Amino acid sequence: MAGDDPEQVFRERASIALPRSEATTRALMESASEAIVIVASDGRIVLANSGAERMFGYPREELVGQTLEMLLPERLRGSHAHHRSGYFETPRVRPMGRGLELAARRRDGTEFPVEVSLSYVDTGAGLLAMAFVTDITERKRAEAELQRQRELLHQTEKLAALGTLAAGLAHEINNPIGIVASRLELVLTDPEIGTLPGALHEDLDVIRRNVQRIGRLASGLLSFARQSPRDRHLLALNEVVEETLLLVTPQLGRTGISVHCTLDPALPRILGDPGALQQVVLNLLTNAREAMNGPGRILIETRRGPGQPEMIQLVVSDTGPGMPPEIRDRIFDPFFTTKPQGTGLGLSMSYGIVRDHGGTIEVRSVPGSGTSFVLAFPIHSSEPTASIQPP
Ligand SMILES: Nc1ncnc2c1ncn2[C@@H]1O[C@H](COP(=O)(O)OP(=O)(O)OP(=O)(O)O)[C@@H](O)[C@H]1O
Ligand SMILES: [Mg+2]
Repeated sequence: MAGDDPEQVFRERASIALPRSEATTRALMESASEAIVIVASDGRIVLANSGAERMFGYPREELVGQTLEMLLPERLRGSHAHHRSGYFETPRVRPMGRGLELAARRRDGTEFPVEVSLSYVDTGAGLLAMAFVTDITERKRAEAELQRQRELLHQTEKLAALGTLAAGLAHEINNPIGIVASRLELVLTDPEIGTLPGALHEDLDVIRRNVQRIGRLASGLLSFARQSPRDRHLLALNEVVEETLLLVTPQLGRTGISVHCTLDPALPRILGDPGALQQVVLNLLTNAREAMNGPGRILIETRRGPGQPEMIQLVVSDTGPGMPPEIRDRIFDPFFTTKPQGTGLGLSMSYGIVRDHGGTIEVRSVPGSGTSFVLAFPIHSSEPTASIQPP
């Protein structure tokens, strides 16, 4: 009996299965989550699965018969057509553009990053290439986020190490410098010492100014090294901004700098140290004034974090000269300064304070187009986080 011969059984089963193989291939293609596009040697699409319809936003009828390049950003189409012809000359199973950033284009014109692996099949009626396309937008986003977290951690570790060193150094400097300053003051002002010769008075005055500078540096170091804000309570960020502005507006006005505020009146409160936060705003405003070095505009905005419903943002922008990337990358480093009289502690201190508030500080700056600092702080859990829509 035929059923007893294994060879025979196999052949029979195969003969039933073969007519079904096209249906099987289609079923496999349709069940794949990636996009599969099959292309003839002239570059025209002969088959696309539903994954391709979903990924690119075209119904299948609009894909079949078109050249594959319609799925690419325009700037890449020419070179891709060239690579495609090359592939058909020496077809191989391989990932495409290893190590390259590959981009695809949806029907609505938006671009997205993809990974493509290529395969081919010789149908007898001609060679067909098969492209398996995976949308890697989410992976790219996760990678970028990981990189950002790594940089943040690196900066935090660097600051923590420096903070310990700075605190020790500042304590050591503070006492002797205090003694030097008070003795100098005495020599310069004590009536019993009498009038000093002009040249000596001048020299002592120079010493006094420099001692004061060392004193400022030491206290800057101490606040930079302070691990956590001393006095925390629920506060309105807008008030911190307004109070700081009271201090500096007259000076800014004299320099020809106008300040424009857009403060969201419905901003939820945060938990914070008002003095420390005022210090941060003051540093940013001082930097903006020094960067503009003359007339200009400062914009201050508070708002709910776009895309971050649990955060509020403070944005301080200026119309100054902006920064090239090599400077921008270093501005939060302690002692990094481009100013002859700068200590380079303003921003690293601000960074530490914002971080101690559970917040973030980022800079956006392009040479010639000004600078924006974007600070984000977590809304306190007792505050409503959902935005109240006006009626
Ligand atoms: N708004 C800005 N526009 C252009 N460059 C800026 C701006 N803010 C900061 N910088 C750059 O970042 C550097 C570091 O700033 P940071 O406030 O830490 O120190 P500093 O201002 O130089 O010194 P200090 O704050 O002690 O006076 C500045 O020297 C400057 O080069
Ligand atoms: Mg500064």
